[in-house]
Amino acid sequence: MKKEDLRIVIGADHGGYHLKNALLDYMLRMGYEVVDVGAFNDEPSDYPDFARMVAEKILNGEALRGVLICGSGVGASIAANKFRNIRASVCHDTYSARQGVEDDNMNVLCLGARVVGEALAKDILKAFLCAEFKNRERYNRRLQKIKEIEDETGQSNT
Ligand code: RB5
Repeated sequence: MKKEDLRIVIGADHGGYHLKNALLDYMLRMGYEVVDVGAFNDEPSDYPDFARMVAEKILNGEALRGVLICGSGVGASIAANKFRNIRASVCHDTYSARQGVEDDNMNVLCLGARVVGEALAKDILKAFLCAEFKNRERYNRRLQKIKEIEDETGQSNT
């Protein structure tokens, strides 16, 4: 996918604030269009608020993919996955970041700023951004089963 078609939304709590700024700058320098939903300082804040804003930007079409950062990446991913059609995961290696998109159509990358350094985070982010869903029958079948789980459990937002 061309960079100009791949608008990204990024958000972080206080734990991810500094890494967010570095990754935002990195994406802008690579030519991506990026929406920053905060946090805009490192005062204590709540990761579900940023998970909500990132998810909503994707679900309303303002962004195609998202990046969410907290201290570990865990809280951010738990919160983001409460939204139907959000497929978020913590990835602290480049293989998962690429394969998560190719096989699982992951649309939110979660990072733990207290776990990975800036250089590795940039490599992981690049792997995520450059990957595309492979749209194979077996991948779609599995994604359909996830939708069925969402339907059964009443997970709703759209
Ligand atoms: C905040 O201290 C921390 O709990 C949060 O950033 C995140 O790591 C949660 O998963």
